[in-house]
Amino acid sequence: MKICLAPMDWVTDCAYRIICKQIFQTHWNVDDELMLWTEFMSADWYTHNPSWVIKHLLKSDFDHETIAQIFWWNTDSLIACAVDIQKKYSYSWIELNMWCPSPKIMKCAAWSGMLKDKQKTLSILKSISSQIDLPFSLKTRIWLTQDDIQEQFDFLLEASKYVHLISVHGRTYKQSHSWDVDRNFIYKLKEQLPDTLIIWNWWLSSYQDCVTKINNLDWMMPAQRAIGNPWILTPYVPTNQDVIETIFKHLDLSVACELHFKQAIQNYDHSHGLEQPTYENLQHLAKDISNNTINVDHCHAPIEFRKYLFRYINGFPNNKACKKNIPQARNYKDLKKTLSNYFDSIS
Ligand SMILES: Cc1cc2nc3c(=O)[nH]c(=O)nc-3n(C[C@H](O)[C@H](O)[C@H](O)COP(=O)(O)O)c2cc1C
Repeated sequence: MKICLAPMDWVTDCAYRIICKQIFQTHWNVDDELMLWTEFMSADWYTHNPSWVIKHLLKSDFDHETIAQIFWWNTDSLIACAVDIQKKYSYSWIELNMWCPSPKIMKCAAWSGMLKDKQKTLSILKSISSQIDLPFSLKTRIWLTQDDIQEQFDFLLEASKYVHLISVHGRTYKQSHSWDVDRNFIYKLKEQLPDTLIIWNWWLSSYQDCVTKINNLDWMMPAQRAIGNPWILTPYVPTNQDVIETIFKHLDLSVACELHFKQAIQNYDHSHGLEQPTYENLQHLAKDISNNTINVDHCHAPIEFRKYLFRYINGFPNNKACKKNIPQARNYKDLKKTLSNYFDSIS
């Protein structure tokens, strides 16, 4: 089975992708392969104000099989961005995001708003695919209401002429986050498109859940349940000690990525692209951070790290007090102290 870490804004950054791949390489099922995604990035901002969004393209040489995801509604910006990523960065695929929902998004023509004018969107897909050599994919949902599901199905059959892979989320826009999902839609789509890779992307709760639901599909893509739970990409069930070690490794790596980025953005030159970190350098930096040989009090990564932390320690004993203390920690040292005190108290 090919197992995918879903694209998630503020989650699937360079550090978390490395952690997921490390866990996968340690505990993988030998028949499986791993695929990684970046967070989404605005193609328009990339072409006009790259320094605002270029962080999303930070990638080490370790997570080589990674898809760069972009969004926007304007063909020229999308093509310019896709072509530039292909030229300057070592991504394996380019993906167009047509998934994200919200009333605000529906008003603009980007994200799932692209599905309002399907003919125009097909011409955008055709244009992008003709301009890049990398494989091209799209991520979408089964659309607005139950009434336009057939229309969306037909649209995807047409779209498959221009993309190699389609990630499908089985809820309509109206269903929001409800439990109702249309499983037949995606199995039927794969039946009709044997030569296009089709990914299941909604509410996979465990590795076993992926195995159970894969059926005739190619790849499985857990999202929310993969936040602070990289083991979902493997059959392995972690011990509390595994989780604790991963938390500290992930925290150090997040700070290391921030330090690398701060340096790289100072030297950033759009004609050459962002200087990417090597895995080896990040590992060295992370070690220095862990040994307190570099002052990282100014780094923001430990604050951002909370979103993973709350998930990592879900199910840990007496975690309520720790969850209350975490927001008081304002820097790396504070956070490590808070966590060490808590982990000592439960060991
Ligand atoms: C915090 C968060 C950020 C997300 N960011 C993105 C994104 O950048 N690009 C994207 O295509 N989907 C994004 N998604 C959607 C997920 O990739 C996935 O489609 C969705 O969560 C449904 O899967 P799930 O039911 O397993 O969570 C995001 C979801 C979450 C929870």
